[in-house]
Amino acid sequence: MTATAFAKKTVQHLDCAGKRVLMRVDFNVPTKDGEVTDATRIEAALPTIRYLLQKGARLVLVSHLGRPKGGPEPKYSMKPVQARLERLLRQSVAWTDDCVGPAAEAASMVLKNGEVLLCENLRFHPEEEKNVPAFAEALAKLGDCYVNDAFGTAHRAHASTEGVTKYLRPAVAGFLMQKELDYLGKALDQPVRPFVAVLGGSKISGKIDVITALLGKVDRLIIGGAMMFTFNKAKGLPTGKSLVEDDRVELAKAVLAQAAEKKIELLLPVDCIVSSATDGSAPGTVKKVDVLGPDDIGVDIGPESLKLFADKLRDAKTVVWNGPMGIFEVPAFAAGTLGVAKVMAGLRDQGAVTVVGGGDSVAAVQESGLAERFSHLSTGGGASLEFLEGKVLPGVAALEEAGA
Ligand code: 3PG
Repeated sequence: MTATAFAKKTVQHLDCAGKRVLMRVDFNVPTKDGEVTDATRIEAALPTIRYLLQKGARLVLVSHLGRPKGGPEPKYSMKPVQARLERLLRQSVAWTDDCVGPAAEAASMVLKNGEVLLCENLRFHPEEEKNVPAFAEALAKLGDCYVNDAFGTAHRAHASTEGVTKYLRPAVAGFLMQKELDYLGKALDQPVRPFVAVLGGSKISGKIDVITALLGKVDRLIIGGAMMFTFNKAKGLPTGKSLVEDDRVELAKAVLAQAAEKKIELLLPVDCIVSSATDGSAPGTVKKVDVLGPDDIGVDIGPESLKLFADKLRDAKTVVWNGPMGIFEVPAFAAGTLGVAKVMAGLRDQGAVTVVGGGDSVAAVQESGLAERFSHLSTGGGASLEFLEGKVLPGVAALEEAGA
């Protein structure tokens, strides 16, 4: 990935008029009572879908939804997505009950130029996640060329993201894939400095690789969320009944030493909100991090920490954020996360590039109503984390190079 040019072929390289385009999307969206409850991921794929339809492609969409256990499960059907997609596209979307086999192939063949077909959940076949070649080959029969716009699933080497490209070429990226990799890639490879990363979330174990990778790239690293307590324990501070990963305390010590050695400013909260319950049933109190009592549970960063973080973000020109600062799902414990969102929205207004890497922090930004004031909100949770860790994403590696 270079900072200046997208290295992969994209849909703009495709001659797709009248062709069946097999497009892998990440429509792994939440559903309830047969309705999609958050269509962000569907909306994010619309630019590619609309582009291909306008070019006269016959579009076949495939995706997973949820984690079915090796066979069809009605609660993970893609059917609710069909209805939402029809509303968004203002055109009908054909449906097939399976994503491989004669019925699916026939449904793809009868599509006219500019028409769309949505297939049932890929993961109703265990061969999808096992990346079984025969299944990838069967999928390939649904298209004359392949587009991957499923950034959120690009870290999985599955039949529909990786295997299929061995049987179906050209294999190119969609606009969402391109946009995600452009934003994340530029932030990592050629950030306008100062470059500050803000990491939160509950567990250091899930973030350690990203912390280590970012220590080599950022000018400052801000850490919040419950993982602060594992660091605090490593520093000999009291943690009460807060979430501490005892088996990661040594790791936290090593990270602190590494930051000091690299002369990277690693900032931890100086105060936090503590409570006797994590569900909002008991009030929160502000406490300095060195005076936590034995029964205190840390649930958010405190106001002094938010001020400190805002101060350390003030001159930032590139900011990457992953993970909430506290239990933001509970309104009383959301101030730290919403405060960081507000600070970042202000930075974007001053011309900084602000990228939020997937999952809970994106949900928090959306809840804050500030989504429009960010440079980029990633649609990938695990995928953006792995990208920030510096890993190769198999779904990206499998696509054709722009120069090829
Ligand atoms: C996600 O929601 O992060 C992607 O859709 C990937 O889903 P998975 O973690 O079940 O592979």
